[in-house]
Amino acid sequence: MSGTVEPESVVSTRGLNKYFGGVRALADVSVNIHAGQVLALVGDNGAGKSTFTRVISGMDRPDAGQLFYGDELVLKPTARHAQRYGIEVVPQHLALCDNLSAAMNVVLGDPPLRWHIGKFGWIDRHAARELARESVRGVGARLDDYDSPIRRMSGGQRQAIAIGRALLRGGRMVIFDEPTAALGVRQREATLGLIRQVADRGLAAVVISHSIDDVFSVADRIVAFRLGRVVLDSAIEDTDRDAVKFAMEGLHRGLQ
Ligand SMILES: Nc1ncnc2c1ncn2[C@@H]1O[C@H](COP(=O)(O)OP(=O)(O)O)[C@@H](O)[C@H]1O
Ligand SMILES: [Mg+2]
Repeated sequence: MSGTVEPESVVSTRGLNKYFGGVRALADVSVNIHAGQVLALVGDNGAGKSTFTRVISGMDRPDAGQLFYGDELVLKPTARHAQRYGIEVVPQHLALCDNLSAAMNVVLGDPPLRWHIGKFGWIDRHAARELARESVRGVGARLDDYDSPIRRMSGGQRQAIAIGRALLRGGRMVIFDEPTAALGVRQREATLGLIRQVADRGLAAVVISHSIDDVFSVADRIVAFRLGRVVLDSAIEDTDRDAVKFAMEGLHRGLQ
């Protein structure tokens, strides 16, 4: 980032705490998440990354602390509220329907209708295909086929479909939990490209990753968790791999 203007916060938290029995999964977590940036969340297993994304997307209720959507303090966050605000989660195991086409997967839940009586109607397949094509292209991806079942599509193509769906719903933030974990080298590149596109289109992209290489190639900012606490929150250009690893392990570099 350049200049002195603070970028717009899409979601911010102040002193979030979350307990599971005796485990403090989140400890006083205050983070601002900005539009147009890729934020990487890192930390060992159990550090609190998924819990943090579950709280901001309304799936887990915090025990204490504040959550803001834009300027609005959200008193009782729910997944519905998060969805209405425009927070989309691309799940680790992509929740796509193998037996449906790419077009239908993109418009799933809110398909364009040719006619309807109340809730029931006839899906406009041509409009669905055009909507799907437009939103998948919007993230710089291409599919050859929008009409056959997606069963044989690659992980990267599926991700493009999931992100297209998120954009079509008018998203402000897309959360990716370990998006490259199961992918080969080329698909990984494609997925990182998609994540970049999400931020370049002005949305906030939040990526949980174990790959320090991925983080340093795609993120604008990095937040490291350790035992539920934020132990590092830095612009990517102001930190390096060693500093991130040390923070994750609870160590300090040098004597200072
Ligand atoms: N639903 C749950 N029930 C009980 N403990 C949980 C639950 N979800 C997370 N935890 C605990 O909270 C801590 C943080 O977990 P999590 O947010 O999943 O970490 P990460 O995603 O960084 O691996 C861990 O100690 C984990 O065991
Ligand atoms: Mg996790």
